[in-house]
Amino acid sequence: MSGQPGVPDDTPPVEVLAEKALVEPEDIPREVLAEDAAAVLATAASSAEAGTSGLILNATNVTKRFGGLIAVNDVSFTVPEGAIVSLIGPNGAGKTTFFNIIAGIYDPTSGRIAVRDRTMVARPIRAWLEPVLWVAPAVVVGLISAIVVAAANSETIGFLGAAVTLAALVAMLLSAIARPDWYQRLLLRLGIFRSARPNDMVKAGIGRTFQNIRLFQNMTAEENVLVGMHIKLKATLIDAMFSTPRNQREEAAARARAEELLNLVGLRGVGGELAKNLPYGDQRRLEVARALASDPSLLLLDEPAAGMNPRETSDMMALINKLRTELGLTILLIEHDMKVVMGISDRVTVLDHGERIAEGTPDEVRRDPRVIEAYLGAPAS
Ligand SMILES: Nc1ncnc2c1ncn2[C@@H]1O[C@H](COP(=O)(O)OP(=O)(O)O)[C@@H](O)[C@H]1O
Ligand SMILES: [Mg+2]
Repeated sequence: MSGQPGVPDDTPPVEVLAEKALVEPEDIPREVLAEDAAAVLATAASSAEAGTSGLILNATNVTKRFGGLIAVNDVSFTVPEGAIVSLIGPNGAGKTTFFNIIAGIYDPTSGRIAVRDRTMVARPIRAWLEPVLWVAPAVVVGLISAIVVAAANSETIGFLGAAVTLAALVAMLLSAIARPDWYQRLLLRLGIFRSARPNDMVKAGIGRTFQNIRLFQNMTAEENVLVGMHIKLKATLIDAMFSTPRNQREEAAARARAEELLNLVGLRGVGGELAKNLPYGDQRRLEVARALASDPSLLLLDEPAAGMNPRETSDMMALINKLRTELGLTILLIEHDMKVVMGISDRVTVLDHGERIAEGTPDEVRRDPRVIEAYLGAPAS
């Protein structure tokens, strides 16, 4: 529910959130859910790393409800590798909500998002079972050792049993954090699916910026980029505490990369400035540099030109184009102003009131009567 164009705002009003917390789960027909679940588990099982479809992102029938409000309604949408694809629509159309689903922030009410043919985001299936899995081995071992202890009445066996029980619990918890292959397979076998969280999406190669700037205002530009890099760094806490050679090497490399990225987005020489002291347009560029720091292959940009004047806007579009040609990035761009994206998009999808009303080349979309109506209001008849 953004205000006028140019006023960045993707935070819902408090009363909307409160209402969301109070409402019951949505009434979706059971058979739809079952079908959905089967499809999700099937694609989750085929852990095809490199997809065969040539699609870096594939959203299928995505719906998101907030209580009674349908913010995104049955939207399907694909992003081919290497393309610049735009999602446009008037304020309140559901663009940011859709974005947040892709980024792993919201679970969709139904539908799913696949990254390179692998389902990453969907409504959770039997997620409650996973914590049971964490404690089950420890409970079983604990029970068996309790029985043995009771029979043998030996303190040594008692200690041993307690140690093995604890080890089982710790092992399962560590597995849940590290998620090795056997653990993932076990989840699938039990029919458990949990959506990827934002950090999983970053690991899967998806970087993003926010509609309202979310920089660390009291950190320097360089530090902001370094924060975006942390997921790629390998040095451990121990390395950091003792400033080991590995830590020093990694830190030097990270700083060099941060500088490269700042140069790339047109912020040469401002690495030492506090983010809050940068002009607005530069803060937006810094957001892009930070998103690039995690080395994404798909970059999601939520209204990167919001609040910019026409000159800054066209510079930003030039930068986005450069990211594709120089870094080979695939880009999904959100924008409410249709004119902004027309020059650089390969494909454009138009949302209105949560629904996809058009999809095509910029020219096709621009001439579509439904799009014209959504932007200009219904024609007088
Ligand atoms: N967390 C939320 N809780 C409740 N309603 C929300 C939430 N986020 C967005 N909405 C509502 O969903 C609709 C779509 O919003 P949004 O996705 O921000 O649109 P856009 O980005 O296209 O301007 C709006 O009516 C908005 O108020
Ligand atoms: Mg928005």
